[in-house]
Formats: sequence, structure tokens, C-alpha cells
Amino acid sequence: PKITFIDPDGHRHDLEAEEGQSVMKVAVAHGVPGIEADCGGACACATCHVYVDPDWAAAAGSPQGDEAAMLEFAVEPQPTSRLSCQIKMGPALDGLLVRIPLSQH
Ligand code: FES
Repeated sequence: PKITFIDPDGHRHDLEAEEGQSVMKVAVAHGVPGIEADCGGACACATCHVYVDPDWAAAAGSPQGDEAAMLEFAVEPQPTSRLSCQIKMGPALDGLLVRIPLSQH
């Protein structure tokens, strides 16, 4: 599935994700700046915070449980905020667009 990141400097990164790969892992694997992912994907740091494009918010789903709790520690959360380690790429998200916040701390 394809995914596009807009990094904190406004640069666009059009990438091909692997099926089942988390959005965080895609960013890290391709060196997209602005995703720190201090906890390595354990839903325990909130430094993989992204803003899902509003057109994709329904497909990406809402944060649940641990993710919703951890998002309270994210910097400047917005209604479509997610922790990118908790979004798994698949056919339903082919073409996903996410923006990376200016800061993770
Ligand atoms: Fe730490 Fe996503 S990598 S919460």
C-alpha cells in the first residue's frame, strides 16, 4: 500500500509500505524526519505522533485504550491525531496521507 508523509518542513515523502507494517516503521525505514518513536512501537512514548489527513481519518480509525491514553502526552494533539506505531498498513489504507507534527517533545 502507498503512503504519503508530509514532514515537519513541509516536504512530501511518497512511499510504498509493506502489508501489515506500522506507519511508524515505514517512516523510520525510509528516514522520514520527525518521527522519533522512542519506545520502538510499544505505545508507550507518544513521540510517533502524526496527524491523519481528515479524508483518511475514518479509514485509519480512532485511537482506543492505551493509545488514547498515551495521546494525552502528545504535543499539540488535534482531532485526527494518532500514534503512528498503532496504525497498520493494509489495502484499506492504500494512499494514506499523514502529517508529522513540528515537534514530538
Ligand atoms: Fe512509542 Fe509509538 S513508538 S508510542
